[in-house]
Amino acid sequence: MNIIKLHAIDSTNSFLKELARKEPLPDFTVVTTQNQTAGRGQRGNGWYSTAEGSLIFSVYKIFDHLPVIQHFKISMMVSLALIEAFQLFDIPEIKVKWPNDIMAGNKKIVGILVENNLMGEFITSSVIGIGINVSVKSFPDLPQAGSLSFSSDSVIIKEELFQSILKSLGTHLANLMNVRFEELKTLYEAHLFRKNVISVFEDPLSGKRFNAVIKGISSQGELVIETEEGLMSQVGVKELRLLF
Ligand code: BTN
Repeated sequence: MNIIKLHAIDSTNSFLKELARKEPLPDFTVVTTQNQTAGRGQRGNGWYSTAEGSLIFSVYKIFDHLPVIQHFKISMMVSLALIEAFQLFDIPEIKVKWPNDIMAGNKKIVGILVENNLMGEFITSSVIGIGINVSVKSFPDLPQAGSLSFSSDSVIIKEELFQSILKSLGTHLANLMNVRFEELKTLYEAHLFRKNVISVFEDPLSGKRFNAVIKGISSQGELVIETEEGLMSQVGVKELRLLF
């Protein structure tokens, strides 16, 4: 495995994307840093981390022409790989909050940012950025963030966790092209946060709130919800926010 260890960088995703633009990179090149000064999150958000408490890394993964329409396979596979690794560390109540936040109980402990490189209708490679709150003690203005250490009585050695996650990610991602979307969807849905219970959602444009039940995901990775009136709908990331 090609692993690059940095002391400080703005963003491991940006660094790896730039590196891949400049030179051909081996499959599964990993970049990790102790300090990430301008971590990037989903929807243009930032990502908070500390040198001691966070595990920050990005993986460059080459795909042999993965159809763009199946892009959600990457999120599902990465989420399942992380869940498997956390199970080895006996972290209770691990779930995936659609599309790809990993939760321990009601706290978000992992953020994932997947950035794809496209050629026509296909994904040829991705930079998969992962930020894990291992033992961050407090989060500024982030009431829903938590750390693995909040849920575990034993001390988690960051390097051990990192090796375990890389192993799980390597195996899962190498298998991605061989597993059917439907098969992955079933596995992913088995770990879905707040599935089959009433949740409050917010329409980010109007600010309107409504109750609905998460039923699963569609064949394109959209969230399938059932409203109180019994209406089923499929929604994209920008179309709603789950409040909990
Ligand atoms: C999210 O908003 O939930 C996604 C956060 C992703 C953060 C990780 S940390 C490593 C990699 N580098 C970045 O700049 N972002 C990702």
